[in-house]
Amino acid sequence: MAYSLGQFRLQAAKSLEFERFQHTIGVEVLACDLAKKYQINAEAASLAALTHDMAKAYSIQEQIEKAKEWNLIHYPEDLQCPQVIHGRVAAYMLQNEYGINDQDILNAVANHTLGRPGMSPLEMLIYSADLTEPSRCFHGVDKLREKLYDDLKEGTLACVEHTINYLTQSAKVIHPLTLLTYESLKKNEND
Ligand SMILES: [Fe+2]
Ligand SMILES: [Fe+2]
Repeated sequence: MAYSLGQFRLQAAKSLEFERFQHTIGVEVLACDLAKKYQINAEAASLAALTHDMAKAYSIQEQIEKAKEWNLIHYPEDLQCPQVIHGRVAAYMLQNEYGINDQDILNAVANHTLGRPGMSPLEMLIYSADLTEPSRCFHGVDKLREKLYDDLKEGTLACVEHTINYLTQSAKVIHPLTLLTYESLKKNEND
């Protein structure tokens, strides 16, 4: 790897606001701990965690412009709730500016905001750690963490379910990819 984890950690510290940096380190800590438990490559988990929000160094308008320029807008809902596109923008930057070609890492970063049907263990790990890292303190987060330690798939399903409930209650747009992710995990549970 041309870039070390230390360099990505330093870059996150320099480019992100303090709270976002704290969140990023929280995602790394939780993702690495879960990676050990589920025998997932911990270095890949660290790298994906440290870079998942790197595009948040840009304003939402800049993220949209980059996403349009790099053909990363796939659904009309991407522009209705543009805060979801920073994952894809970060994955594109990782591949094209940092030479990271591990597809699983790129997918984990790209899909951490919405998920996708058929997520790999690393993708589930980053998606779920993003929601439940230690500095998150919403009602029910402890239960979600417990579930993640019991079973990665079940825990991820509970995280997606929590997100859908939250969006429904606050009358926000639910992105079709989140619904497809939910259905995919639910079907898997029933198989
Ligand atoms: Fe994010
Ligand atoms: Fe995040």
